[in-house]
Amino acid sequence: MALATIVLLLLAIFFFSSSSAQCHDRDKKALLAFKDSFLSTSLDDTWLESTDCCSWDGHVLCDKDTGRVYYLQFSNDKFSPGVRVSLNGSIPAAVGDLSALEVLMFSDLPALVGPIPPQLTKLKKLLTLSIIRTGVSGPVPPFLSKLSSLRQLDLGGNALSGTIPPSLGSLTRLTYIGLYDNQLTGTIPASLYSKLNKKYVAYLQLFGNRLTGRIPSSFGSVDFSQIDLFDNQLTGDASFLLGKSKTNLEIVNLTRNGLEFDFSKVEFPESIKRLDISRNKIYGSIPDQITQLRNLFWFDVSYNRLCGKIPSGGSFPLFDKKYYAHNKCLCGAPLQPCKK
Ligand SMILES: *[C@@H]1O[C@H](CO)[C@@H](O)[C@H](O)[C@H]1NC(C)=O
Ligand SMILES: *[C@@H]1O[C@H](CO)[C@@H](O)[C@H](O)[C@H]1NC(C)=O
Repeated sequence: MALATIVLLLLAIFFFSSSSAQCHDRDKKALLAFKDSFLSTSLDDTWLESTDCCSWDGHVLCDKDTGRVYYLQFSNDKFSPGVRVSLNGSIPAAVGDLSALEVLMFSDLPALVGPIPPQLTKLKKLLTLSIIRTGVSGPVPPFLSKLSSLRQLDLGGNALSGTIPPSLGSLTRLTYIGLYDNQLTGTIPASLYSKLNKKYVAYLQLFGNRLTGRIPSSFGSVDFSQIDLFDNQLTGDASFLLGKSKTNLEIVNLTRNGLEFDFSKVEFPESIKRLDISRNKIYGSIPDQITQLRNLFWFDVSYNRLCGKIPSGGSFPLFDKKYYAHNKCLCGAPLQPCKK
């Protein structure tokens, strides 16, 4: 009896698993065209016309009812699981024909070159577009604003140049913009996150570019959780990024810019965990309020023009003196005592 039950169970499992949809014809055609447009690729060995594209290891996921491809990932990141891949050539136009695609990711692919193709705008369901640490070059295309479902845009670590398109600010669900470690120039558009639905929290990473000018004061009314603008050439005020109303703000890193403002008047949100404003031209004194910040565990104000006594007391940890070093006239623990 037990054996018969097991046999029945195995038959049932076989029946149900083989009854789930196979790769949709249209998607299979698009994927084969995608593969064929590379100069050379390791996909030639596994992406075979004779097999179900939903079984193409490590890179493709299909909806089990419709057989539509919703997830496509190519990664040579040594930390992520899956099959190693090489792609030599530019991002194929055929990717635009995968109309059910929600996630498209390329990472750690130095031979992936050329610009971001306009056919991507056909992907109306795309939630995540991630092209990181590749040889992709050209501009950050303004047409990305046509990806109306987009929530995460990560284009970090490429060879992108030109300016940041203001049109990205029209996306109402785009919560993460990552354009870090490229060769971007010009100013940060004030439009970024201006249309973001109020139920979402924003996260911005533009570090490691050549951005100039002022941080847009419109960011004063964006609900950020994290903002990383370090290693640029930004100038002027940044105090509006902080403030007690920023109840979701945890990480702010502005190190190595040319920012210049009075630190004495800044108010900090309770939520702040890491604040790095080192290597700027920030003046004034360190506000007493920092001694009340229970979540703060990293605070670096070194290499600025600050003055006056370092606040102590409350739950404020005694950060190492290197985080206060090279200012105009800061004093008190952990630096030398203030002169009476
Ligand atoms: C990519 O293909 C071109 C043309 O065949 C070749 O010259 C180049 O060396 C290849 N690059 C890589 C990184 O494999
Ligand atoms: C800010 O970024 C710099 C550069 O990567 C890094 O060294 C530093 O640790 C960061 N600061 C914080 C508080 O994370």
